Amino acid sequence: MSEDCCVLNKDALIVKPPKKSPLVLRMVVLSVVMICGVYICSICLKQIGTQPSPRLMTELVEKPCYDPRIPESESLYVHYPEPISYSRDECACTPVRLFVIVSMQRSGSGWFETLLNSHINVSSHGEVFSNKERRSNISSITSTLEKLYNLDWNSSASKNECTAAVGLKWMLNQGLTMHHKEIVEYFNRRGVSVIVLFRRNLLRRLVSILANSHDRDAKQLNGTHKAHVHSKDEADVLARYKPSINATELIPSLNHMDRGSADALEYFKSTRHMLLYYEDLISNHTKLMDVQEFLKLPQRKLASRHVKIHTKPLAEQVENWDTIYNTLKGTQYERFLAADYRL
Ligand SMILES: *[C@@H]1O[C@H](CO)[C@@H](O)[C@H](O)[C@H]1NC(C)=O
Ligand SMILES: *[C@@H]1O[C@H](CO)[C@@H](O)[C@H](O)[C@H]1NC(C)=O
Ligand SMILES: *[C@@H]1O[C@H](CO)[C@@H](O)[C@H](O)[C@H]1NC(C)=O
Ligand SMILES: *[C@@H]1O[C@H](CO)[C@@H](O)[C@H](O)[C@H]1NC(C)=O
Ligand SMILES: *[C@@H]1O[C@H](CO)[C@@H](O)[C@H](O)[C@H]1NC(C)=O
Ligand SMILES: *[C@@H]1O[C@H](CO)[C@@H](O)[C@H](O)[C@H]1NC(C)=O
Repeated sequence: MSEDCCVLNKDALIVKPPKKSPLVLRMVVLSVVMICGVYICSICLKQIGTQPSPRLMTELVEKPCYDPRIPESESLYVHYPEPISYSRDECACTPVRLFVIVSMQRSGSGWFETLLNSHINVSSHGEVFSNKERRSNISSITSTLEKLYNLDWNSSASKNECTAAVGLKWMLNQGLTMHHKEIVEYFNRRGVSVIVLFRRNLLRRLVSILANSHDRDAKQLNGTHKAHVHSKDEADVLARYKPSINATELIPSLNHMDRGSADALEYFKSTRHMLLYYEDLISNHTKLMDVQEFLKLPQRKLASRHVKIHTKPLAEQVENWDTIYNTLKGTQYERFLAADYRL
């Protein structure tokens, strides 16, 4: 049996020079090649179709960056993003924390963000959701956040160093309060750390709002409006304007602001968060260490070029001070009348 088979094979292996029709032979070879090609193609297509889902893939890729020094309890907050627009190269296995600064206008968040951005490993991309389109619905919000947290967001805060923390500044009235349920759910799912920055003295906040709004029209600095300044001279020019506060609207306004911040604290209480007050940041430099510890950053001395605009006692910053004083005296907001920090 075996001998037969081999003899037969031997015969078959002998290639005889084509005598009759080389064209037929060529056609046969050609069709074999074509069939093989189609077969290989179909196999390839099948494999593309059954590739693991993107989520599985990132998990597979993230594995090699596993750092045993990071405790299991922290793993939700540690990320190894793979940006689409460039390669992280030597930073690929540097863990990245995601954060958001939640605040309200004129509460020191601009200054605070420049402090954070002075850290070589931090990129905080500013008020990304001041753009109405990006906050027009929750899917637009999450895709913006995904791009940013995946390190594919390019702004002046982008760094060439290894990023250890990436985030943004988000005002409550920029879709955050409106979509708080879905956003908190997203933060908890993605492991986003929330830094809530509020201002204790809402009367000072009101003065800053009114003065900033005045400058938007008056453009006191050589015809340009500036919300933040970098020199004492510019600060002095802006502080010269003393707003007059509508006494009838004062208490309702303060109530409104107070409720806004209380509601926000309620929304974010289930997230990993820290609460900061502007007044404490000004008078206590240990607070900045707390922030770096919260984001697990190597401690650095942080600096900002921002110069505070309103530094004088409130009595000298409000046009109708006597009226305002009498309106708040004896109310729950009386404490705002007193000086509450020293520079
Ligand atoms: C969400 O908003 C974006 C941008 O405004 C828009 O293009 C998109 O169609 C909206 N999606 C839904 C589901 O409304
Ligand atoms: C980010 O933008 C700057 C300025 O527009 C540009 O020079 C730089 O190449 C951009 N970086 C990336 C990674 O897209
Ligand atoms: C900070 O950036 C430097 C320079 O890119 C890098 O060597 C270092 O590992 C980074 N630190 C962290 C904690 O990411
Ligand atoms: C306005 O412009 C003048 C001349 O360019 C300059 O000297 C001055 O510092 C500017 N003032 C402010 C407040 O920017
Ligand atoms: C103060 O606010 C009240 C209520 O909005 C308004 O009726 C009144 O005209 C305002 N007063 C001034 C001086 O603007
Ligand atoms: C400054 O902040 C630190 C940390 O938050 C706190 O322990 C300390 O008591 C504060 N110091 C003052 C003077 O408030």
